[in-house]
Amino acid sequence: MPHGMHARLPRNFVLEERLERYARAIELAPAAWRGRWAEGCWPGIGARQDQPPRFREVRLDLGCGKGTFAVESARREPDVLFVAMDSEPICVAYAAQRVCESGLPNVVVVPGSGMRIREFFSPGELSCIHLNFPTPFPRKREAGKRMASMERLLDFREVLAPGAQVRLRTDSQPLFDFMLTQVPLAGYELLWQTRDARAELPDVPASEYEERLGALGARVFALAATPGPAPENPVQTAELSLAAYLPQDLETLEGLGYAPHGMQATVTNLRNRALREAARDRSRS
Ligand SMILES: C[S@@+](CC[C@H](N)C(=O)[O-])C[C@H]1O[C@@H](n2cnc3c(N)ncnc32)[C@H](O)[C@@H]1O
Repeated sequence: MPHGMHARLPRNFVLEERLERYARAIELAPAAWRGRWAEGCWPGIGARQDQPPRFREVRLDLGCGKGTFAVESARREPDVLFVAMDSEPICVAYAAQRVCESGLPNVVVVPGSGMRIREFFSPGELSCIHLNFPTPFPRKREAGKRMASMERLLDFREVLAPGAQVRLRTDSQPLFDFMLTQVPLAGYELLWQTRDARAELPDVPASEYEERLGALGARVFALAATPGPAPENPVQTAELSLAAYLPQDLETLEGLGYAPHGMQATVTNLRNRALREAARDRSRS
């Protein structure tokens, strides 16, 4: 898990033991459920006779972290199955604990990478992919790992149902602006966007990162997009380094107040460079 969350592991945290203790919430062979998540995970208990024996929708919380968002969403919509996926075993253990403690039958935790989404879901199986505070991977050389990218959006098209959505929430203005370039490149239609989601959509459940970074003064940027006609020959034309999406002038940099997580050093460097340039301009005049 990025951003130093390891540092807060309790002393007695033994990963294997946790994974075992909460195993009933974890699906270790997600590919086996491909194409039948909605029926296969249906618990049946308490179902009405007139209801079809399946979940109404399947939604994916990709990079679910400790699972707060998935569990709260599942609590609010009992007829929707939430698949909470994370590539980091510590997160899987925490999310599984949360699911077990919630007692909810409509959320399942999957250890897995968003890079392999098509192995886990069949065409049209998902009604929504949530990207809550995805790891920004700000450097150009790491851009291939970003979930908020044209390449991933093209992959996601393969598993999304008609009219389904990809929803992003992030504290990172550069990642948000980068994703705005990726949406049309992958042939998606932007349904809405906001640069202050907490004010405009206050009822959306907050993830751990949203709680934590919100307390530090982060604004939440959010968007929803839906696949349109597939692009014939998608080509990446956007600038890949997230530093390029930061404001470059000193005044706006000073006004940022909050530096997006993982980019504090870049913001400081840009600010120092702008200060040096301003000093140089003053000495010349
Ligand atoms: C910044 S955390 C956000 C966690 C949670 N969504 C939240 O908002 O609190 C990003 C999460 O994405 C996970 N992650 C990063 N790359 C991933 C990938 N390729 N597939 C699945 N999860 C990934 C990380 O392990 C981490 O838990």
